[in-house]
Amino acid sequence: MKYKLLAKLNDKSAVIGVVGLGYVGLPLVLRYSAVGYKVVGFDVDQSKISSLSKGESYIEHINADSVRSAVEKGFEATSDFTRAKEVDALILCVPTPLNKYREPDLSFVLNTMDALAPNLRAGQIMSLESTTYPGTTGEELLPRIQSTGLIVGEDFFLVYSPEREDPGNPDFTTQTIPKICGADNLSCQDVGMALYEQVIDEVVPVSSTRAAEMTKLLENIHRAVNIGLVNEMKIVADKMDVDIHEVIRAAATKPFGFVPYYPGPGLGGHCIPIDPFYLTWKAREFGLHTRFIELAGEVNSAMPDFVISKLVWALNEQEKAVNGSKVLVLGIAYKKNVDDMRESPSVFIMDKLRSLGADVSYSDSHVPEFPEIRQYQFELKSVVLTDEVIASYDCVLIATDHDDFNYELIEKNAQLIVDSRGRYLGKRTNIVKA
Ligand SMILES: NC(=O)c1ccc[n+]([C@@H]2O[C@H](COP(=O)([O-])OP(=O)(O)OC[C@H]3O[C@@H](n4cnc5c(N)ncnc54)[C@H](O)[C@@H]3O)[C@@H](O)[C@H]2O)c1
Repeated sequence: MKYKLLAKLNDKSAVIGVVGLGYVGLPLVLRYSAVGYKVVGFDVDQSKISSLSKGESYIEHINADSVRSAVEKGFEATSDFTRAKEVDALILCVPTPLNKYREPDLSFVLNTMDALAPNLRAGQIMSLESTTYPGTTGEELLPRIQSTGLIVGEDFFLVYSPEREDPGNPDFTTQTIPKICGADNLSCQDVGMALYEQVIDEVVPVSSTRAAEMTKLLENIHRAVNIGLVNEMKIVADKMDVDIHEVIRAAATKPFGFVPYYPGPGLGGHCIPIDPFYLTWKAREFGLHTRFIELAGEVNSAMPDFVISKLVWALNEQEKAVNGSKVLVLGIAYKKNVDDMRESPSVFIMDKLRSLGADVSYSDSHVPEFPEIRQYQFELKSVVLTDEVIASYDCVLIATDHDDFNYELIEKNAQLIVDSRGRYLGKRTNIVKA
């Protein structure tokens, strides 16, 4: 069974199934298709299936040409999970959010498994790519597969291989970002390596699915903790009237032992604010308390309030109250040059300013219309920035510093700028660093 599947993966006659066609799944579909595999994409979102079937993209940095080319090469998107029988590999890229108690919500992974289980067959490999706590693959997926009668390691193969997408970063592609592949026995590892080696330049094997799961969490915890540190340094520097961005730039000239991280208005995105708490939750089972993660979470989640307090003070200096002031928020995506608004601190800040009585607008060319978000409703469209428009606001808040803003135009016309990203260097009249 193993050698037959290895042969199919190596000669590209294997059919690849990607489950969850979002920021992680879609680039994988395109990569497998580009190197010559037939790909079937599974999703529960009909709108995504119909867009992809028409050769359209719903992710800003993925162009429609690559989707069209995949469709021409036979890529099909479907919500019919019985078609899982047709594929040789199932790569799971479904969401792993937190529930309202900030505990792991594995419902998407488990629902996917329930839909797939009756359609699994001998001679397939399954790879979980969703970020999760150590033990998920072995404790949740493995028993569900084995309950179908399949024997993992003999007639079915299971690995965990975390995704390392950095949407909007032009320096790295799915192909060039090294990929970790963890398996709990050698047969699974051999098939897992074959699955990825055809499409990724460097595949790094690790000795267990748990080690691979923890590797991904370490990467994201490393970021969350260091961003927490630099956010705390920002507050200290601000009180001491020192520009933290000048300090970071200076420290970054050290050629060893220092890695620059940049402060901001708070953490955003689907990964860094969420993933660390997957480990926190699992560590409790072992009687352990993840103090660095909790502390970073505490510091990072206080940053939107820090920015708001700076904005309130800055308006106050101009003898204005937030209540009744016109505030223009620049950048509502969670990071620069992308259209992804998940967990964006800009939205939290807009909501808080509105509850304080501010008349809030936003400008973001990546998000032309404020989307539907469960907790936050704004009927707003992105404001086009002109001299008059900018001058008409009491305050302009730089929340996400997209490269396509005209910062000179903004500085020339704004009555007051609150800059939470260190976009403006040095001290300037009417610019408050936050
Ligand atoms: N976005 C990133 O940059 C990134 C990077 C690394 C890891 N990850 C991880 O990858 C996973 C997926 O993230 P994403 O950003 O691609 O999410 P996403 O929300 O963009 O995409 C997930 C897709 O899964 C679909 N889906 C939901 N339930 C399903 C089900 N039962 N069956 C089939 N499809 C289903 C959704 O409709 C959606 O299209 C998460 O675990 C995330 O933490 C994301």
